[in-house]
Formats: sequence, C-alpha cells, structure tokens
Amino acid sequence: MFDYLIVVQILKEGKKLEKTKILIAYGTRYGATTSTVEEISKVLQGEGFDVRVVNLKEEKIKDISKFELVIVGSGMKMEMWTSKTKAFLNKFSGELKKKKVAFFVSSGARALMEHKGEQDEIIRINKKYLEDKASKYDLNPISMTMFGGIWDYNQIGKIYQKFLESDKENFNPAGFIETEPGVYDSRNWDEIRKWAKELASLI
Ligand SMILES: Cc1cc2nc3c(=O)[nH]c(=O)nc-3n(C[C@H](O)[C@H](O)[C@H](O)COP(=O)(O)O)c2cc1C
Repeated sequence: MFDYLIVVQILKEGKKLEKTKILIAYGTRYGATTSTVEEISKVLQGEGFDVRVVNLKEEKIKDISKFELVIVGSGMKMEMWTSKTKAFLNKFSGELKKKKVAFFVSSGARALMEHKGEQDEIIRINKKYLEDKASKYDLNPISMTMFGGIWDYNQIGKIYQKFLESDKENFNPAGFIETEPGVYDSRNWDEIRKWAKELASLI
C-alpha cells in the first residue's frame, strides 16, 4: 500500500513536470515560412513549451491528440494557402475544433499594400487569407495574423517578374531588405517574436 502511494505520487509529479506540447504545421513554396516558423518555435521553447515543427511537404502527421495548441502557417501564392496545409486542415478539422488553434500566413503583398496606404486591400486580404479560412473549417483560432514574406527573384518565373515590375521600385521604400542577391524580405522579426510571446500567454 505504502509503495503504491509513492508510485502514484511519482507519476503525478512527472505529469506536472511534462511540458505543454505545441505543434507548428506549415507549408512553404519559397522558404520564408520555414524561417518564420523557426523563430516562433524558438520563442515558444524559451517560454517553456515543447514544440514540434512539421513541414507538411516533408512529413505526414498522423496524430495531433497530444498537442494543446496547433499553429498552422502557410505561405501565400495567388491568394492561396499551400495544398498540404489545406489537406492538413481538411483531415484534422474535427479534432482541431476541440483544441486551441492559431493561424498565420506569410504574405509578400501586405508590406506593399501598407506602403501604398491601401487600407481596404489590407482588410480584404486579412479576411480572405485568414478569417475566411477559419470559417471554412469552422474553427475559432485564438489568434490569426499575417507576417511578411520574401520575393525571391531567383525562384520567381519571368512572367511574374514582369507582373511585379511596377512594385519592385516600392521594395526599398516599403522597408524590404535584400538579404541575398535577388531576395527581398519584408518580414519584421520583432512582430513575429511578439506574436509568439503573446500566443504563449494565451495557452
Ligand atoms: C507567383 C507568386 C504569387 C504570389 N502571390 C501572393 C499573393 O497572392 N498574396 C501575397 O500576399 N503574397 C503573394 N506572393 C508572395 C509570397 O507570399 C511570398 O513569397 C511568401 O514568402 C510566400 O511564403 P513562402 O516563402 O513560405 O512560400 C506571391 C509570390 C509569388 C512568387
């Protein structure tokens, strides 16, 4: 009897010491979302969480039951999330309804719209990229946000480069940083870290 009580106590203490688990499942085409996720993960680990990061193109997730919070992030292309993130939401939408969920997207367009003062457009894309997505899967995320992204001229096709021509002169005034030759980054790392920290406080 005495031994049994000690074992129960040890198990209880062990459970208390277990860190809360967070899953970050994401999709990327040009690579920005990968480094954004790495930064979010770093902050959340610093806040004491056990974070699992999954690039949905490289790995299939079979089970999300152990995660308290699931963050789903996608890069945007032609106003669309990646097909793998959509497949993930389709597969797990039922289970995600019972969990804490957060969404973010990597958008190359947002900073340009902000620079040009296109408020209506920003409201439109916020709705289309985030709110409509949550509604589609009947989810009520604890947080949704849009970060910047990259325009990588080493990867963008000639036709789209032509389409971007008039916007390219806005890259510098809009605060983009050329991190490598031909790679223009519109992300604000403080904004990304702040979001991750706020998220940690909501768990
Ligand atoms: C062909 C093409 C289409 C794009 N379409 C959009 C778009 O509709 N909205 C947007 O905000 N950004 C758009 N972008 C910019 C991307 O969002 C940006 O490259 C971001 O970094 C994508 O995330 P990823 O690098 O993780 O793939 C587009 C970029 C390319 C090359």
